[in-house]
Amino acid sequence: MPKIKFTIITLFPEALKPYLDSSMLYKAQDRGIIDIEYVNLRDFGIGPHKSVDDTPYGGGDGMLLRCEPAFAAIESVKSQNPNAEVIIPTPVGKVWNQALAREFANSEGATSGDLKHYIIFCPHYEGYDERILSIVDHKISLGNYVLTGGELPALILIDSITRLLPGVLGGETSAEIESFSDGDNLEYPQYTKPAEFRDMTVPEVLLSGHHGKVAEWRREHSGHQGKA
Ligand code: ADE
Repeated sequence: MPKIKFTIITLFPEALKPYLDSSMLYKAQDRGIIDIEYVNLRDFGIGPHKSVDDTPYGGGDGMLLRCEPAFAAIESVKSQNPNAEVIIPTPVGKVWNQALAREFANSEGATSGDLKHYIIFCPHYEGYDERILSIVDHKISLGNYVLTGGELPALILIDSITRLLPGVLGGETSAEIESFSDGDNLEYPQYTKPAEFRDMTVPEVLLSGHHGKVAEWRREHSGHQGKA
């Protein structure tokens, strides 16, 4: 059984699939570590045109997602698993960081062997009816800027949670890197062959084979990556 199931409610499943079906996220699904399900919000639209949005009361530019399709879509997923937690990406949410990613990856369910199920509801257009938040468990912001929809945030949430699950990255290596990536710490600079490239050399200590000195150098240099 997978550790985490992500159900993405979106108007644009085709925008998400190519990324999620590539590389590590493909492998995580192929190995049965995560399961990804797509629900098209349009299927819950209103009337012959399957409308999902309307103009804001009080006036103003743009269109807002309506309550009815949002509630219907979320409730249809919840009817299969009442314990699923609903995440909405929104610029007014709690700002996502590595500590939160770890919380979501390690939360009960994902670790106890039971399936942890997150529903990511992707808003689109200029915004959403505020009443939708009454059935949301987590409001998450990807940073202090505004995107056109919740699809890019959904990819980032799934990516940053999934890479923390056992069996997704290389075992030992990932654990080692993780010990340096708590909170806001960045990893140490890394190098591979060749030892010299266009007059740029790899720090001598990394070529020394001295594990203690290498570890010390990495500790000293974590969080200082790049000069830009
Ligand atoms: N939707 C639009 N902008 C966003 C942001 N910065 N974070 C999460 N969701 C968003």
